[in-house]
Amino acid sequence: MIRLAFSVHKSSFYRIAIASLACSIPLASHAQQPLKTLLVGVDHRTVTSLNGDWHYLVDQPPARGLYTLEGKVRDNGYGLNTHPNISSGPHNEEYDFATAPTMKIPGDWNTQDPTLFRYEGVVWFQRDFDFQPKPGTRTFLHIGAANYKSFVWVNQKRICDHEGGFTPFDCEVTAALKPGSNFVVIAVDSTRHIDDIPGIGIDWFNYGGLHRDVSLVTVPTQFIDDYDVHLRHDTTFSPAAADTLTGYVHVEGAPAGTAVTVRVSEAGVDTTAKTDANGRAAFEVKASHLSLWSPETPKLYKVQLSSGQDSLTDDIGFRDIRVDGTRILLNGKSVFLQGANMHAEAPYRTGRVNNDEDVKNIFGFLKDLNANFVRLCHYPHDERMERMADREGVMIWSEIPIWQRISYDKPEVYAKAVNMLNEMIRRDRNKASVILWSVSNETPNNPTRTKFLTDLANEARRLDATRPITSALIGPHPKGNQMVQDDPLTNALDVIGQNEYIGWYEGRPEDADTMTWTFPQKPVLFSEFGAEAKFGVHGGKNERWAEEQQVNVYEHQFVMINKIPQVRGLIPWVLMDFRSPVRNIPKLQDGFNRKGLISEDGKQKQAFLLFQKTYKDRSVGKAE
Ligand code: GCU
Repeated sequence: MIRLAFSVHKSSFYRIAIASLACSIPLASHAQQPLKTLLVGVDHRTVTSLNGDWHYLVDQPPARGLYTLEGKVRDNGYGLNTHPNISSGPHNEEYDFATAPTMKIPGDWNTQDPTLFRYEGVVWFQRDFDFQPKPGTRTFLHIGAANYKSFVWVNQKRICDHEGGFTPFDCEVTAALKPGSNFVVIAVDSTRHIDDIPGIGIDWFNYGGLHRDVSLVTVPTQFIDDYDVHLRHDTTFSPAAADTLTGYVHVEGAPAGTAVTVRVSEAGVDTTAKTDANGRAAFEVKASHLSLWSPETPKLYKVQLSSGQDSLTDDIGFRDIRVDGTRILLNGKSVFLQGANMHAEAPYRTGRVNNDEDVKNIFGFLKDLNANFVRLCHYPHDERMERMADREGVMIWSEIPIWQRISYDKPEVYAKAVNMLNEMIRRDRNKASVILWSVSNETPNNPTRTKFLTDLANEARRLDATRPITSALIGPHPKGNQMVQDDPLTNALDVIGQNEYIGWYEGRPEDADTMTWTFPQKPVLFSEFGAEAKFGVHGGKNERWAEEQQVNVYEHQFVMINKIPQVRGLIPWVLMDFRSPVRNIPKLQDGFNRKGLISEDGKQKQAFLLFQKTYKDRSVGKAE
């Protein structure tokens, strides 16, 4: 039975919505597409933004608007955006987006609706939008990130699903769009499961929702969806030979032999290449007087890519990063990374970072700290972070959220990890600021995990041979005052990240003074170390939670680290206090992890001033 339902459209004209087939017969849903397209450089294209007010409805577990009781996604649930006919019920589906409240997208739901602060489950989002499809074009819905699983309908057609809370995805909506008024419905499920990435029991706030930009990207039928333009990475680096750009441009839908042009006018580059049978045009071209990107000179070039009707101009820096023995070389020179860890927690307002103001505040903190580096833990952050780091000359450690408890024995979990790695590298491979890809954080030293992460590290190298691969290791536990880092995963890494909390979780701060470390002959970054202190709590240097105690822990850490010749970076945990569901000491934590050098409202603790001076004086650690 088909029922016509009338609803008052937001802009006060009547819109006849063809209700779905009422009950049992699911609408012939639009075949779900594999997410094979992931547009690179969307922030450098002209897009139709869908940011703004979206209606939302909470669909509490077991989320009957989305799932059948067997857990399958329904084809006749809320995604159809039907409306109760209040006057002449009955109505099979008791929901209505048109009269539902709204919230701002991008934005997590936790910080926008107090009733959803701790909610983990399904929330539905819906908005209308006007659109005029153009012949000879394709249109994709581009979602910067949605945590954790997403299910997308447009005009009652099921379009795509995506899993992963921190990487972008594109779903083609060309066939579903119509001239004039359209609507999109997205269900986001933030529920965590043991076989997800991250798994359960995380030490950060599980903000849910469409927490990054949402837009429509219209491109010609043959379009540039992926590209890699970098300084050729030779077996050794020499400044004189640092004059060749290489890489590829992929043109989706292009027959072999399609011309692609790569122009970097300021570097005297204007080259044309032809696509192969897979739509990929490889190129290599000499540039003239390239100014290499570095923290001191964060030079970015306008790189114009064009093919047929499509073109886009990206801002790309060219530099060389590599490991040489125990040194990290940037453009052939040893570099020492002075940085901090940072969650994607918005300063002052909390919630997920997703706008220019948030990013400006964070980079203000890093600049005040005299930092040249930041570890974006434990997942890819908003792309604005890499863009600002490119412009400001801050180097980045970027990682996927393989954090502590992961099901390493399950092939489907490995597949998820590869997909997230792909999405992270594809989005940011052209960002000079990203110098390290990390495959994990604090994972148990056992053969199943080591094989999983070794394979993943090799997959990262296959995707991008120009950057060192790292991971943050935990353990070993001290044998007396000996710390021997013999985790076999180090064999798969170019740079070793070492987390340790001597003086907070283990032992006394002064134990660090006599601690000696043994590492494999590779560069080591102390990727997490520190202690908690609540801003404004003062006391003796051994009084836990006092700012003076946090400083004391770090001062002893510096004594220890200065004795390890191959340390090439300091990454204290953490730049700013951040929300965490497992930090529940009233009056001290109140739901925040307090290891920040800064409070969540931007107040600098004494430890911040310690690092500010240490980094200015470069008094801890050596570049070689
Ligand atoms: C771990 C972990 C962090 C966590 C931190 C802490 O090392 O990597 O994600 O927040 O320690 O316990 O504060």
